Amino acid sequence: MTKQQPIVIGHRGAAGEAPENTLASFELALRQGADAIELDVHLSADGEVIVCHDHTVGRTTDGAGAIAEMTAAELKRLDAGRWFDERFAGERLPLLEEVFQLVPLEIMINVEVKCPYTPRLAERLAELLAQYNRLDTVVVSSFNHKVLKQLQEAIPNLRAGLLYVANFVSHRQMAAAAEGLDVYSIHPQHHTIDAGDMAEATGYGLRVYPWTVNDPQDLRRVIDAGASGIITDFPGRLRSLLNEG
Ligand code: G3P
Ligand code: CA
Repeated sequence: MTKQQPIVIGHRGAAGEAPENTLASFELALRQGADAIELDVHLSADGEVIVCHDHTVGRTTDGAGAIAEMTAAELKRLDAGRWFDERFAGERLPLLEEVFQLVPLEIMINVEVKCPYTPRLAERLAELLAQYNRLDTVVVSSFNHKVLKQLQEAIPNLRAGLLYVANFVSHRQMAAAAEGLDVYSIHPQHHTIDAGDMAEATGYGLRVYPWTVNDPQDLRRVIDAGASGIITDFPGRLRSLLNEG
């Protein structure tokens, strides 16, 4: 039996070659053959879901301050591309809604929640998932498993991805320990999981999406170990390796 190939998940789009978490980065990931994209979200002061990794804008824009204390309109005025390369000047912090509008439905979107749970976050996520018919093609992940549980309670059938770094004795036990949470996928740091762990987890019906795998030797290792998907800053590099067989 031939082994299933992992899906290519572009980390923050194609963050190795474009400014992370921008529409330009997501477009590049799609052009490079990504099957899915990963992105990070926070809530703005006026309750919009904003795509950005850090809780402040200083590292990836020409502004300063906390996302939670700025309105979407204020955030939209910032340049989110020039810090990476002059070619990307004018890129903006996207709203999650803009990403849903850009990315075709067959491309899975892994939304990593970086902010605390609030009823407004659940309400806005639920609205967007319904409006863009995305419930079956979005996986919401977080290092904060309590936030995932709260979101799944608020949004029935939400696909939840457990993000973690620790090397658990059993990754299946790790997923089961998330009491009351219906886990769709596990997202371990790639050095902490081997082929045996992956076989165990996939045997229980869990998808295994290790992160963030960039080095060609590491990519080869997690492909051979049987990952269901691989989160990488270089989706084109992973696609080429998979095409080589
Ligand atoms: O989702 C995997 C990975 O993105 C988690 O770490 O810091 O890149 O968000 P970070
Ligand atoms: Ca992330």
